[in-house]
Amino acid sequence: MSAGRWDLTTELPDLADPALVADPYPYYAALRAAGGLHHSATWDAWLVTRYDLCHEVFSRPHDFDAAGQPMLRALQKGIQGGATSWRLPSGSGLTAPDPRQRAEGRRTTGRALTRPYVDRLWDGFAAECASTASELLDRAGTGPVDVVTEYAIPMATSLLANLMGVQPADLSVFRAWAESGYHDDLTDAQRGRVALDIRRLLANQAVHRLRNATDDFVGFLASNPAALPGHTSDVTAHLEFVLGTGLMISLVTHQGLVLSFSTLLRSLIAAPDQYLRLRRDRSLMASAVEEGLRYDPSTQALGRFARANTSLGGVDIPDGSLLVCFVGSANRDEAQWPAAATFDVSRDVRSTARHLTFGHGATSCLGAAMSRRALGYLLEALVERVGTIAPASGAQPFPEFMTRGFVSLPVELR
Ligand code: HEM
Repeated sequence: MSAGRWDLTTELPDLADPALVADPYPYYAALRAAGGLHHSATWDAWLVTRYDLCHEVFSRPHDFDAAGQPMLRALQKGIQGGATSWRLPSGSGLTAPDPRQRAEGRRTTGRALTRPYVDRLWDGFAAECASTASELLDRAGTGPVDVVTEYAIPMATSLLANLMGVQPADLSVFRAWAESGYHDDLTDAQRGRVALDIRRLLANQAVHRLRNATDDFVGFLASNPAALPGHTSDVTAHLEFVLGTGLMISLVTHQGLVLSFSTLLRSLIAAPDQYLRLRRDRSLMASAVEEGLRYDPSTQALGRFARANTSLGGVDIPDGSLLVCFVGSANRDEAQWPAAATFDVSRDVRSTARHLTFGHGATSCLGAAMSRRALGYLLEALVERVGTIAPASGAQPFPEFMTRGFVSLPVELR
């Protein structure tokens, strides 16, 4: 079977093909047209392409376990032959093999992300976005500026450092770790040192806060035992949980924010009429953010692991199977959104928000509300100041098929 330039009889295209990495959506459309579920012998995995099936997989955590996510990472690494890829730290309660332990870790982390210290972040963050956007615009007369390296990355670092209560003296250690995910030129030794420094910093922070509670994310986790089954009074397990969760929040979610902002902005640059529309009608800001998340998600795929013989969409799925749920494909499913392949900032925000970019159900993103708000401030500060944004040369995509976005996005601002 063949659809467009993708020949589905050849099983899977070369995922390192620059044309596919640049635009995987025609391939997804071809896969969806050929069916919602495909078995790939090459990957020994099930590819789930339709929205309703991805949604069903995420809604059945007892049948399809999120422990498939590390498997997906390993698969990705194998496919791309050593591309930058990060496993979640194994010490995080969120990635523990025991589902009860994971649920407990999720509850504690969820509470830690809805405390008053989160609300107090926003005034400062909005002001920082505004002043950095003004500085960028001031410099724009002399040439292109990079809205990822000079704007989204430093803003995300500042937001997450404030969330976690990082002290000014420790900011350079925090920044080196949080921003290391964008540098594929670091040696193993350099990565090792950065990882050691941040572990030391977070461990000291957590130990200090066990004695002197502080009103921030790490302080909350440190003063609220994760109640891990069988470890309720195990200080080491508790510290490991704080450490693992802190490491994850400062690196993986940093990338989520930055890459999502980069794809949103790229979509707006590619559709200048939509950018102008947004400038004329700021009430569309929330729907523009949501449409960016739907239209070109930084999370292209989520992995799940079948915990027993089961079925999906009438197809038998054997115990132990890996399912690769293509969020990027589900988000463009015409059965869910009319003209799904069109970027339209005026879509109904509630309907758009059904996208699967933050996952769905038992393990969906706990930082979704925070991310939406942060993306809104980042975008608003530019839209308020910049009349037009045009692409400049030198854009650098993130070097993975399953994670989309830019590590560098130079633009002309006027
Ligand atoms: C736009 C940026 C972000 C995107 C696209 C994103 C996306 C995701 C996705 C896809 C998952 C996994 C869902 C699954 O496997 O079903 C996830 C999990 C998670 N996210 Fe985010 N995320 C973002 C930002 C954040 C932020 C800023 C935070 C916190 C400050 C955060 C905290 C978490 C946590 C704690 C989990 C684990 C939930 C669990 O395992 O129960 N995320 N995120």
